[in-house]
Amino acid sequence: MNNFEFKNPTKIIFGKDSIEKLTDQIPQDAKVLMLYGGGSIKKNGIYDKVKTALANVDVTEFGGIPANPEYDILMNALKVIKEENITYLLAVGGGSVIDGTKFLSAAAVYDGDTPWDILINKVRTENGMPFGTVLTLPATGSEMNSGAVITREETKEKLAMGGPGLFPQFSILDPSVITSIPQRQLANGITDAFTHVLEQYMTYPIGALLQDRFAESIMQTLIDVAPKVLEDPTDFKAASNFMWSCTMALNGLIQQGVPGDWAIHMMGHELTALFGIDHARTLAVITPSHYKYNFEAKKEKLAQYAERVWNVTEGSIDDKAYAAIEKTEAFFHQLGIDTKLSDYTDKFEGTAEEIEKRFEDRGWKLGEKQELMPTDAKKIVAMAY
Ligand code: NZQ
Ligand code: ZN
Repeated sequence: MNNFEFKNPTKIIFGKDSIEKLTDQIPQDAKVLMLYGGGSIKKNGIYDKVKTALANVDVTEFGGIPANPEYDILMNALKVIKEENITYLLAVGGGSVIDGTKFLSAAAVYDGDTPWDILINKVRTENGMPFGTVLTLPATGSEMNSGAVITREETKEKLAMGGPGLFPQFSILDPSVITSIPQRQLANGITDAFTHVLEQYMTYPIGALLQDRFAESIMQTLIDVAPKVLEDPTDFKAASNFMWSCTMALNGLIQQGVPGDWAIHMMGHELTALFGIDHARTLAVITPSHYKYNFEAKKEKLAQYAERVWNVTEGSIDDKAYAAIEKTEAFFHQLGIDTKLSDYTDKFEGTAEEIEKRFEDRGWKLGEKQELMPTDAKKIVAMAY
């Protein structure tokens, strides 16, 4: 196992009716900016619950943060933060609203002229403006980590940022919020969380027995609850396990002491930036090709995953590893998620070359050994057409 230091300061408030507990989490003298998305919270009652809990707090609102939070829109929110002397941010939404709020937390205290430089220059935010979240969509784990991904339509870029100052102070996780989530987003959430575990697990053996078991148990739980959640989002037991699995998949715990890959995400972000494909679906497109292309380097962990998660007991290491890739792709299909780029766009020609060029311009080497070169990314993306 590698050396590590681990601190996760986010307080989790989990369970039915937990939104009521918001009242006690925000300082009474705070000037709060409440941030939300395209309006789902106004239809499903979450907005009213939040407003009731904050009845005695000075709250300004900023709605309209789109899926894949857009820089230009967030810059309008930054103006509000400055003009209204906001001191505390509250994200009410899924990964996009929470990520947008993290960007604002960093931008509100940023010294430079252009907040986009936070993303370009990979500025680590040590102390952002304090913020909390009310999670409405289990998927990204953003509610308990310090990373964010921001999109800029103008340049068709989607870049990551983060830093220890960008953990939420608290996150409220009421699993009953999933009852209003459309099937497409539920399937996305399962796929995203599942791939988060894969990115931190599907590397090479490093003797981290407990992290492997944590990772496998999260994947097993997601496989178990996926059909239940899709069939009946009011099944509270399934919803609870789904929500907590998504948080645990990317709150740092399973990443400690082990190598991480994350190349699937990096290639996937380009597909979202170029074509607007939902984040989770880009991952389902890249994953099978990525594992086939890197088969030799990853086959031991692929075979372990096949045995422990998919109960594949027959065959050689190679047979099991190959079965693992097939099982994973079949799982995505079972969720209604297509796994080829051509399922999402007919303008895919040239995409592999474009992504290769972008990674070259950024000087990126990816993967658990930082050995995956832009030309490898090109081949993987082309395999995913
Ligand atoms: O905008 P509204 O109207 O709220 O609708 C949203 C949105 O259209 C809707 N929704 C959310 N909660 C709902 C609901 N609809 C009905 N009922 C509810 N309770 O769902 C749609 C998608 O929301 P979004 O926040 O975009 O989804 P998700 O949570 O999947 O977030 C995706 C974003 O997170 C980034 C992705 O790249 C993408 O930009 N990620 C963030 C990560 C992180 N910070 O750690 C890691 C991930 O790998 C990912 O990159
Ligand atoms: Zn993801």
